[in-house]
Amino acid sequence: MAEAAVAREAQGLQWTKKDLLGLEDLSAEEIRLVLATAESFREISLRPIKKVPALRGKTVVNLFFEPSTRTRTSFELAAKRLSADMINITASASSLTKGETILDMVRNLEALKVDVLIIRHAAAGVPHTIARQTNASVINAGDGAHEHPTQALLDLLTIQRQKGRIEGLKVSIIGDIAHSRVARSDLWGLTKLGACVTLCGPPTLMPSHIEDLGARVTWDVAEAITDADVLMLLRIQHERQEAALVPSLREYRLRYGLDEARLRSAKPDVLVMHPGPINRGVELDSYVADGPNSVILDQVTNGVAVRMAALFLVSGPPKVEE
Ligand code: CP
Repeated sequence: MAEAAVAREAQGLQWTKKDLLGLEDLSAEEIRLVLATAESFREISLRPIKKVPALRGKTVVNLFFEPSTRTRTSFELAAKRLSADMINITASASSLTKGETILDMVRNLEALKVDVLIIRHAAAGVPHTIARQTNASVINAGDGAHEHPTQALLDLLTIQRQKGRIEGLKVSIIGDIAHSRVARSDLWGLTKLGACVTLCGPPTLMPSHIEDLGARVTWDVAEAITDADVLMLLRIQHERQEAALVPSLREYRLRYGLDEARLRSAKPDVLVMHPGPINRGVELDSYVADGPNSVILDQVTNGVAVRMAALFLVSGPPKVEE
């Protein structure tokens, strides 16, 4: 893609990684390269014919061991808009149910000459283990409570497009920090690009020593909201909790939910973000989710461009025509 090549040259940096596993592993320059590449791909989705030949001849596999709407669909659209061949494998309908191991499954996919594996798994580190065992590129689509790099990259792209910058912004992430891979990836990405991150949530949903990663922690939701440029709300991840860690959803909403009254105490131009899926009436009221400060659906739109960039960069230079 000419646009992407221009973006890479503008950054003066070539992508050298086989995989995209987390924002902890990326430098600020590599994050900026993904964002610049995504920016150059955004307009393809606005064309009447949303397709370019950048990944023609490449085969991409979605391998999801956990449910997904946004990530899975936008990776599929991203691959198709770059003209790659795209295959979806649902773990529950695969030979894993007959006792095959994940690594044997991956070796078989490698024998089928796939180029990129996109992996979501409930256990932290599974995409990393697979990446070490295969020559195919691996993109982490969410591993347990560890990282969700493309979500953080689309969050960064959304903030950059809305605010014109990331450096110096105050971003408050409110909710279930302990079980959130999005919070971890966002924290790495935002701090590397110079934002000030505040984490807020019930003490039972806040990991100990998270300040060591460069965040400020507060239990006071009013303090987290008042001078923030960006409010990022997270749902409570019941599926990752072994015991009830909040007394009730009603109490959680009263203490931490973003409703009309709390939004009025924020800056008038504050961005309201959420990675989805939203639990309306718990962490976010509909008045806020659907209101003028919300960029939640812009996040989803930007997810396609970011995933196009991720697929393009890990796939390496385009093949020479024979
Ligand atoms: N934000 C996100 O990862 O959404 P899905 O679980 O629907 O992919």
